[in-house]
Amino acid sequence: MSTKITIAIDGYSACGKSTLAKALAKALDYSFIDSGAMYRGAALFFYRQGHVSEEMMDIEAIERAIPNLDLSFKIQNTKNCLYLNNENIENEIRQVYVVNIVSKVATIKKVRTALVKQQQRMGENGGIVMDGRDIGSVVFPNAQLKIFVTASPEIRAQRRFTELRQKGIPQSLEEVQLNLTKRDHIDSTREESPLVQVQDAIVLDNSKLTKEEQLEWALEKARKIISSMH
Ligand code: CDP
Repeated sequence: MSTKITIAIDGYSACGKSTLAKALAKALDYSFIDSGAMYRGAALFFYRQGHVSEEMMDIEAIERAIPNLDLSFKIQNTKNCLYLNNENIENEIRQVYVVNIVSKVATIKKVRTALVKQQQRMGENGGIVMDGRDIGSVVFPNAQLKIFVTASPEIRAQRRFTELRQKGIPQSLEEVQLNLTKRDHIDSTREESPLVQVQDAIVLDNSKLTKEEQLEWALEKARKIISSMH
């Protein structure tokens, strides 16, 4: 039996982290967790409770509501979907009103602590690919493979714009660009586990790579590590 490693993928918004993580997990027969979806799910929950909107955020009320936050992943028609209690929220968390508040919610230390704990539990047996902002630095500091994904801001905006259009979520290219810039800024300057490129991460600039090429690049790195562990 081959050893199952832990793979951490971090990077800026809309750089293709989840696409890579999902494909890599499939190729290796590992589980895939989109940690960003969990922050989006938390933001949706607190929004519905009236604790956060674009205009306000009641941190104390959010902190009090954390014990009632029930997020889980379930397979639906071969797709790994995020659930809030018994509701499939996979589509709702991609909506603009969630995108506009998620990074604000992700600055709250107690929210992060709760989600990180759940993420660490999901990865305790290895055989997992998780993508996010703090996976290599905080969630799995001992991951055997850490990848930091980058791409130019123009390309990221264009990719996200196309993705949202395909999902039927209306947002102009300018709005997408503005939101990415804002989130990049909040994510990399926040006090609590900011987005950083850890020293032991390998950088992947995928601006000029196809999905297949980036997968091939990552698979080669992963297979080398796995075979060196026998
Ligand atoms: O898909 P995209 O790159 O646009 O974002 P995401 O991965 O779904 O993450 C949404 C937001 O959650 C990010 O902008 C961060 O503010 C936050 N996040 C975080 O703080 N830590 C993580 N490990 C993952 C996401």
